This record gives sequence, C-alpha cells and structure tokens, in this order.
Amino acid sequence: SIPRLVDPFGREHHYLRISVTDRCNLRCVYCMPEEGMQFEPADNILTYEEIADVVRVIAEMGIRKVRLTGGEPLVRRELEKLIAMIAAIPGIEDIALTTNGIFLAPRAALFKEAGLTRVNISLDSLKPERFKMITRGGDVQKVLNSIDACAKAGLSPIKLNVVLMNGLNDDEIADFIEMTMERNIHVRFIEYMPIGHNDAQWKKLYLPLTRVKEVCEEQRWKFSAVSSVQGSGPSENYRLEGAAGSFGLIHPVSEHFCQTCNRLRLTADGFIKPCLAWTEQFQVRSVIGDDAAVRQIFLEALGTKPENHEMSKFLKNDPDISHTPTSRRMSQIGG
Ligand code: GTP
Ligand code: 5AD
Ligand code: SF4
Repeated sequence: SIPRLVDPFGREHHYLRISVTDRCNLRCVYCMPEEGMQFEPADNILTYEEIADVVRVIAEMGIRKVRLTGGEPLVRRELEKLIAMIAAIPGIEDIALTTNGIFLAPRAALFKEAGLTRVNISLDSLKPERFKMITRGGDVQKVLNSIDACAKAGLSPIKLNVVLMNGLNDDEIADFIEMTMERNIHVRFIEYMPIGHNDAQWKKLYLPLTRVKEVCEEQRWKFSAVSSVQGSGPSENYRLEGAAGSFGLIHPVSEHFCQTCNRLRLTADGFIKPCLAWTEQFQVRSVIGDDAAVRQIFLEALGTKPENHEMSKFLKNDPDISHTPTSRRMSQIGG
C-alpha cells in the first residue's frame, strides 16, 4: 500500500505549499533586499506539468490542501491552467493562493472558474505612501481593488496578511481590526521572521503579537476565539463582538506552533523543504515521472524534519542552535 506522509514526530502532512516562481513585481522590506535578487534561470523552474505530476503522486500519500505562492505567483503566465490541473487531481479539496494582490483584480473570476477556492493577500499598510515604502513601489489601490474583485467572484473567505513591524505599521493595528466590523474579511497579523537574513534589521523591526492584544485592551474591545475560519494554517483566530469578519495571530517567533505542523513545501526550482526555517532541501525535479522515486524523496525529506524551529533563539543571541537556519530568502521559499 502507499505510505502516508508522517514525520518522525508523528505529524501527518496534508498541506503542500507550492512556490511557482521566485520572481516578484515588488520587493517588500521583510522579504527581499533593496537591490533585488538574482532570479533562477527559467530552465530550472518546474513546468506546470511537472508540478501537477508531483501533486498527483503525493495526493495519494495524503495531501489534501495545496497553496500556490511565489515570489509572486501571478508573475507566472496563465496560472489558471495550473489551478485547473491541480483541481482535477483526486484527493485535493482546497486550492488556495497567497499573493500581493497587485495583478489579481482582473483575474479573480477566471481563477475561481478554474477551481481556486480562496486567496490570502498581503497588505501591510492601508496608507498609500507607507504601502509604497514597505513594498518598494506598490500601489495600495490595486490591492484594495483585488479584495473587492475576490469578494465579487465568490473567493471567500478573503484573508489579509499583515506582517507587523515595530515603528513601521504597528500604529495601524486598530485600523485593520476595525475593517473586520463591516466586512467579512479575515485579517491576520504575522510576526516578522528572520528567514534568510538573521540580521540587525530584523531585530529592530520585530514586534511580538502581544502588541495586538494590548491594542484591543486599549480600545476596550470585546473579542472571543473563533474556530470556524477555513484553512488549517498556523493562525489563532478571534472576532470582535458584532463583527462581520475576524482577525488572527500568526506568532512563529514568540510562540511556535510546530507541534501541529502539517506543511511541506515545494520550491519553484524543484526542491522539497520539510521545514520553512531549516536549511535541508531535497531535489525532486530530476525524478519526476518516476512515482516510486518521488514518493521516496518525500519520505526522505520528512525524515529530516525538525521537531521545531529555533527562531526565538536568534532574538536572544543564544548560540545553542541545533540546526542550520535556511539560507534561502523568503521569496525563494514562498512563506
Ligand atoms: P491558510 O491556509 O489560509 O491558513 O494560510 P496560511 O496561513 O497557511 O498561508 P499564508 O501563505 O497566508 O501564510 C501566512 C504566514 O504564515 C506567512 O508569513 C507564512 O510564512 C507563515 N507560515 C505558514 N506556514 C508556516 C509554517 O509552517 N511555519 C512558520 N514558521 N510560518 C508559517
Ligand atoms: N516574516 C513573516 N512573514 C513574511 N512574509 C514574507 N516574508 C516574511 C517574513 N520575513 C509573508 C508575506 C506573505 C506570506 C506568504 O509571507 O507577507 O503574505
Ligand atoms: Fe513546521 Fe518548520 Fe513551520 Fe515549525 S517552522 S511550523 S516545523 S514548517
């Protein structure tokens, strides 16, 4: 019989995050260096056929949920073709997209028709000038238009990803939460992670999400925990009393959620990453087409998955780190 995707700590894996490109039309401060990145040559990037073939094989091993990420996934042409190919694979129940939203408005309905179930959109500021600074050139209005287009296309629930940064956007916490009063959207605050750059900038900008709870207290807001938000990602979810939408906290640094990790990653250049935060990666590209070999490499990758990452040790300058942190930048993993 076909083996399941279980790691040495007994965690079953149902969720595959696929980066379809390492390219991006933006260069957000927490993700890419100011000067940009050297992109992978096109020849090294998996084709849609290769990606779908990998998904077919590991859907038989228990993958139920697929998320397309980047870089920016919409930089890749005719993404609806890949969505449709994955939607046709038996066992896949959820196909989601994580995007910066700049190119999404005109394509939302097309993606929905192809089989996309929902979208997570990065939005780190509601202020146009500040948004432009954080993304190094992005137009916030395009993202807001995309949110409306997704709602109209029936791509729901719409989730907004807000990476919280000390002194950069922490004064907008209340504005983001207030958006959920009137609109059925789910706002998630995310702790800034030192992925691919364990550096001074991170230490300066990192802010623990306890700040969000403090803001709720300052505002005297009543909120309660909710468990009904679709998706099995790492977010802890709440709703303000009487709100149409909800908000969530993703706090990998201050309090890791590795004990419930169900995620594997496939990079655009064809490597399996068993953990976001560690260096280990396993090339699958060269064996695509040989199903037994693809299964084998996934099991081998899972066998090296750490019990948990140690990002909080970077914060404390604790030298006692048991694994090598990843050298890939966030844009080369897809979050
Ligand atoms: P849902 O399926 O809607 O819950 O999405 P998601 O939260 O799994 O995906 P998304 O791409 O929106 O990621 C939101 C944030 O969570 C990003 O900053 C990711 O890097 C982070 N994240 C997702 N999975 C993991 C994980 O396994 N470990 C860590 N440390 N961070 C993760
Ligand atoms: N820390 C936390 N989240 C990050 N993202 C990108 N880089 C980082 C980081 N260093 C987020 C993006 C996107 C998601 C895939 O990951 O905002 O929404
Ligand atoms: Fe899973 Fe690694 Fe993320 Fe922890 S850091 S939740 S083990 S991918």
